[in-house]
Amino acid sequence: MDYNQIFTRIYNEIRQYSKEGKQADYIPALAKVNPDRFGICLQTAEGSIYPFMDADVTFSIQSISKVLSLAMALSIKGESMWSRVGKEPSGTAFNSIIQLELENGIPRNPFINAGAIVVADMLLGELRNPEEEYIEFIRALADDDSIDYNMEVANSEKETGFLNAAMAYLLKSYGNICNPIDDVLMFYFKMCSVQMSCRQLSKAFLPFSQHNKQFDFNGIRLTTSQIKRMNALMQTCGFYDEAGEFSYLIGLPGKSGVGGGIVAICPMRYSVAVWSPRLNPKGNSVMGMKALELLTTYTEESIF
Ligand code: DON
Repeated sequence: MDYNQIFTRIYNEIRQYSKEGKQADYIPALAKVNPDRFGICLQTAEGSIYPFMDADVTFSIQSISKVLSLAMALSIKGESMWSRVGKEPSGTAFNSIIQLELENGIPRNPFINAGAIVVADMLLGELRNPEEEYIEFIRALADDDSIDYNMEVANSEKETGFLNAAMAYLLKSYGNICNPIDDVLMFYFKMCSVQMSCRQLSKAFLPFSQHNKQFDFNGIRLTTSQIKRMNALMQTCGFYDEAGEFSYLIGLPGKSGVGGGIVAICPMRYSVAVWSPRLNPKGNSVMGMKALELLTTYTEESIF
């Protein structure tokens, strides 16, 4: 399959939407990013790489990080982790606090902010050097030691992340946070701040598409069955209250971030990362969604 040619065709079709949507500015450091960037990179199971346009420009992965922290928690804690966080789609925004009280401090899934904050707390409790082990896991997945936290973004979110702080306090009141709240929030903000390019992200996510290969990166091991479950969660919860729409239009498991990145996985075939900072009202990249919709339409490759 000539993905380069497909990307050129896709870009020509979607460039008409290049001014649609608005980049995230509730984290002030993200408002500084050039909103007109567009990159995409696909890596196949056989090892071919197809970078296109800004595929090597790094950006803040934000909620895409929640897949990586979940992978660590699932590897370390196994099924016991599900006593503290659910695995159902929320049908609410990524930063909604409403369900948390109604459901007694157990977040619906690990990809909404409340769920990812609980996962951050789990990792703080389990790991000797959480920040180092988290970034080393990503570096091992992407085979790239240059990947790092972006402290400007993390500090910017720390100063303005009052809703996340409110959720952490509510979680704590239900006994679902064990470590000091400031430590949990800072670790969560740092995980979201990691800076990666589409090329690095597509490489890092390829192992989640390879159910036939051993998953073992920096001591984080997942069984084939756990990889299946990670994909199931991305499919059902990866796009918050737009998960149904993403399944309908694209038909692949994936995860978005408010930095404008989206990763998606075609099991046993490829992983793809796309980046365009302008977001729709649900917090997902406008151009990114359109590009992936056309990718699975033109290639006729999807899980459905
Ligand atoms: O906690 C937040 O609001 C951000 N650090 C991450 C949110 C996010 O990326 C949602 N995804 N679309």
